Amino acid sequence: MSDALNTKILGVGGYLPENKVTNFDLEEMMDTSDEWIKQRTGIESRHWATDEQSTSDLALEASIEAIQNSGLKKEDIDFILVASCSGDADFPGVSCFLQAKLGLGTIAALEIKQQCSGFVYGMTLADSLIKSGLYKNILLVGAELQSKGLDKTSRGRNTSVLFGDGAGAFVLSANPELDGPRVIASDLHADGRHAEELWIPAPGCALGSSRMTQEIFDQGMHFPYMNGKVVFVHAVKRMSETVRTVLDKAKMTSKEIDLFLFHQANLRINQKVGEMLELDDAQVHNTVQKFGNTTAATIPLGFKDAMEAGKIKRGDKLIFAAFGSGFTWGSVIIEY
Ligand code: UT7
Repeated sequence: MSDALNTKILGVGGYLPENKVTNFDLEEMMDTSDEWIKQRTGIESRHWATDEQSTSDLALEASIEAIQNSGLKKEDIDFILVASCSGDADFPGVSCFLQAKLGLGTIAALEIKQQCSGFVYGMTLADSLIKSGLYKNILLVGAELQSKGLDKTSRGRNTSVLFGDGAGAFVLSANPELDGPRVIASDLHADGRHAEELWIPAPGCALGSSRMTQEIFDQGMHFPYMNGKVVFVHAVKRMSETVRTVLDKAKMTSKEIDLFLFHQANLRINQKVGEMLELDDAQVHNTVQKFGNTTAATIPLGFKDAMEAGKIKRGDKLIFAAFGSGFTWGSVIIEY
């Protein structure tokens, strides 16, 4: 690793499909209510893509904006990293479809399948690739199109009301200065013993002789399954734990952090994490109310939203922290 290189967020982009779906719209599809969803999760609306859009289409919009915002030419990008668990196809990953849509020749394209923690994993990976001197300008994208994979009947109401579609992107570039914009510290974890508490089992090679049968389909095993209460408890514990760890690694305190961008699954989770870490409300930016849970797209979409609200300026210290299926979790501290 070279000590002489740091990773700077040079450009930011985000995209949300135009189609806004309110809790009242969901009341028409399943046995749920605006009151239940708002009270239990804080969510009021989310965006769902059209039938014609694919995950890489959402990623493309966010990427074009991030590249424009960076001031670079698209040809300057030398590596694409996409965090997504709701790809255009089972394989290849969104990163390959995106690379072709961007017209980026034959540069490397890599997928990160770490669900809600994907973007935090991606930040750490991109930082290592830049610090090693191997790559200079990495396009890191979180892109999710969950709405086409949800059970929109009453059977799936405990998960389908939570998710939204969208994409967010950063252009991350080598910064030769020792101080200034950089990834200060990171902390990543996984605990696969809980993989089946939040997952989509099918199609899957663990299902017997075939990855998908009519029976598997009829049982709805191609839809997300979540043990909500277990996930809730672990999310609160692990997100507060990783924030403490990453602050220790950086030898910093939470008071020195200007803004926290937590994963957005449930407003109550983030309120509890904020209480445990004794944060001021003004230190936390939440978007779940209007975007729902956009899985790996959540952190960059939150970053863009906070920037537009005037809450982020150059020199600020931020923490990104996420928890999701796997279980996977982690955090990074950056100076913007
Ligand atoms: O992004 C990855 C990380 N994901 C998360 O962090 C999500 C963590 N979990 C949660 O946020 C919460 O567990 C949920 C919001 C998903 C559910 O809240 P809960 O307070 O744990 O509710 P519950 O699952 O225990 O269900 C309570 C009741 C049940 O009815 P009964 O059995 O008490 O009669 C459910 O059937 O609420 C019912 N219910 C609903 N009612 C109306 C579940 N979903 C709905 C719904 N509308 N959408």
